[in-house]
Amino acid sequence: MPASINVLFLAAEAEPFVKVGGLADVAGSLPLALRALPYQATHGAALDVRLVLPLHLHSRAESTTMRPVAEFQVYRSGGSIPAQVFETSLNGMPVYFISGHPLSASPSVYSPDPALDREKYAFFSLAVLEMLRHVDWQPDILHANDWHTALALYALRARRGDPVLARVRTLLTLHNLPYMGGEAADALNAYGLMPLNDDALPQWARTFFLPLGLWAADAIVPVSPAYAREILTPDFGCGLESYLNSRRESITGILNGLDVSGWDPAADAAIPAPFSAANLEPRSASKAALQKSLGLPEDPRIPLLAMVGRVDRQKGQDLAFDALRQSASHAWQFVMLGSGDPALENLAANLQADFHDRVRVALRYDAPLGRLIYAGADMFLMPSRYEPCGLAQMIAMRYGCVPVVRATGGLKDTVEEGRTGFLFRKAEPADLAEALERALGVYANPAKWQRYQRNGMSADFSWPRPARQYAMLYHSLTSS
Ligand code: GLC
Repeated sequence: MPASINVLFLAAEAEPFVKVGGLADVAGSLPLALRALPYQATHGAALDVRLVLPLHLHSRAESTTMRPVAEFQVYRSGGSIPAQVFETSLNGMPVYFISGHPLSASPSVYSPDPALDREKYAFFSLAVLEMLRHVDWQPDILHANDWHTALALYALRARRGDPVLARVRTLLTLHNLPYMGGEAADALNAYGLMPLNDDALPQWARTFFLPLGLWAADAIVPVSPAYAREILTPDFGCGLESYLNSRRESITGILNGLDVSGWDPAADAAIPAPFSAANLEPRSASKAALQKSLGLPEDPRIPLLAMVGRVDRQKGQDLAFDALRQSASHAWQFVMLGSGDPALENLAANLQADFHDRVRVALRYDAPLGRLIYAGADMFLMPSRYEPCGLAQMIAMRYGCVPVVRATGGLKDTVEEGRTGFLFRKAEPADLAEALERALGVYANPAKWQRYQRNGMSADFSWPRPARQYAMLYHSLTSS
């Protein structure tokens, strides 16, 4: 049994440094949760988990104190590229940042130009491997996340001859299978990597970063048990289902946790009055404040429905808009917060124009308004077409906002029909409308409704449980 396990956690984004989506929440909390595990949870091994991130052009990292720790060249055909590594710490955890010109070539974490992103993340992934030769700390495990860092695992396999890398085991957490990085033969070639020569992967996938990372990974972790099963089917497998079926033994679904101290209605400065499962009454102040700030009729009895998050086909905003139109004869108000796909934003604006007395859409990122919505709305709609895990439904439950969700992926694993929320099966407006009708029926009975709220608020979505599962996996990877 190893006395200590060193883990290097690779991600494109992590709170509190840089955040675009759910990946940042996980990358900002899981490494810390792992470090905080008691000894018995790690089978007596000390877990030294560290994080490595790209130094993006506009990241809040710039305001933290960083010291330079290494400088080297990353091989690229036509001229090697200088890279620099900086180190800072987050609650005692060492965090490395890598800088280099491909990382500052585009101003955002993910750019609209996929070729630019491939260049950026190929450089980052290879710089991480090179860094291991220049810092005096060696990981036993490389823990990559999504397509952006998957290439590090593939490149590691190609360099097994290197004594620094020979013993390193690998794990890839899968937050979103359809995002594979695109066809990347050029980037592979530029960084001195061969396309995969193995029939195990379909031909097309042998030049895509994510499939290459899956192929190379010793363990694959989809972010919920239900998603882990779904990706084995043609509906969710994105053409990789046969390959993934052949790797079943290496796949373990682990549900993401939630930062329960950051999301706590009893201690949230962004809401007018704290509340808890034991004291729900002050929640009404949030609903009133929300209705007021949106310019909606301030009526405590009208059910207020909400959606918060990335505006994207994955999230099914279009299904929600159609379902709301179908349910127009019921009394409800609706608020949506978030930005993204222009076509869906347009549909949202149309809905507001058609129902200006009861619909408000805020097409932006607005963290304080988000918190007021979780705290003040009655129901949270999440009709996702697929949902690897989903964070918003867990936050909603913690704030007493009852979820109405599609039974898929992490939604299925976190929301319980008849106890904490309402589920529907097909990605069709009529199915959502039917679930909404059931929810409205229960809402009309306040005692029953409060039971749903309290059940959701008492559910344990905290990080220690998933962190233990990851620790177990690290343990089995390093003992085998
Ligand atoms: C992606 C998935 C989401 C998941 C998040 C964090 O954004 O779409 O379901 O919660 O990653 O794992």
